[in-house]
Amino acid sequence: MTKVLVATEKPFAPEAVSQIKQIIEDAGFEFAALEKYTDKAELLAAVKDVDALIIRSDKATKEVIEAAPNLKIIVRAGAGYDNIDLAAATANNVVAMNTPGQNSNAVAELVLGMMVFQARNQFNGKSGTELRGKKLGIHAYGNVGRYVAAIAKGFGMEVCAFDPFVKDELIEADGVKVFHSAEDMYSYCQYISLHIPANEKTKKSINFDLLNRMPFGATLVNTARKEVIDENNLLKMFAERSDFMYLSDLEPDCKEDIVENYEGRFFFTPKKSGAQTAEANINAGVAAAHQIVGFIKDGNSKYKVN
Ligand code: 3PG
Repeated sequence: MTKVLVATEKPFAPEAVSQIKQIIEDAGFEFAALEKYTDKAELLAAVKDVDALIIRSDKATKEVIEAAPNLKIIVRAGAGYDNIDLAAATANNVVAMNTPGQNSNAVAELVLGMMVFQARNQFNGKSGTELRGKKLGIHAYGNVGRYVAAIAKGFGMEVCAFDPFVKDELIEADGVKVFHSAEDMYSYCQYISLHIPANEKTKKSINFDLLNRMPFGATLVNTARKEVIDENNLLKMFAERSDFMYLSDLEPDCKEDIVENYEGRFFFTPKKSGAQTAEANINAGVAAAHQIVGFIKDGNSKYKVN
């Protein structure tokens, strides 16, 4: 019998798990779950007889893929698939997919939530500032970027975007100002929200030159990946620009330095929380389960990324 494993170090909401289980069992497949595992060995043991795998930010390395000789498909229930070794998947005839768009609203709500939190001095009672009228630059206008734009417009922000892969007309149709260079957009906006994937081109691409272009009150919001930031440059920015603030859904490696020296100018979620809502878990988890059933039963490979 086809066996589907949900392997999530950071579990889905229970409602999501029960819906995934239902879809898998209705298809006549066997459902298994490994949640909150603390050791890679647990994952390696759990995958040994599975045909399909649903993961979140869990690392599907070459070792994990090779430990699963029956594996045919891995679905990353979420957007970013930088946690899957795509070359190893392809070499082992394993299809890798993501579930684009399914958790995007949750991430976008966190972006604006962190911005309000910081603009109000982390609710410490001191007089803060408002988002209305401020300029927000969305760096990469994909699914999350679009939701961020819609919510930010509700706040009365002037919303801008830079994304060389999206046609100007599509961005303009949302009432968003198009920029054709990251440099120009950073120079214009007090707020920048990052939505770029982590890949060889983007890693460490958010550097001092770019950040230092931002006007007074520069606030960088990162719900993308920590790898896209050049952390030495981030520390330089904190040191040289006393107005600079950094809000991140991912604790940077240089967290201790920032915590020690720049009180009140940062916020880091203790655990990656952008997609951590019941709705996002259900949307992404259910989509992943359907994609597995569709692939195994009908060979449907929509959303294949390798
Ligand atoms: C994504 O790429 O979809 C987000 O980063 C969410 O990751 P998570 O499922 O580990 O919370």
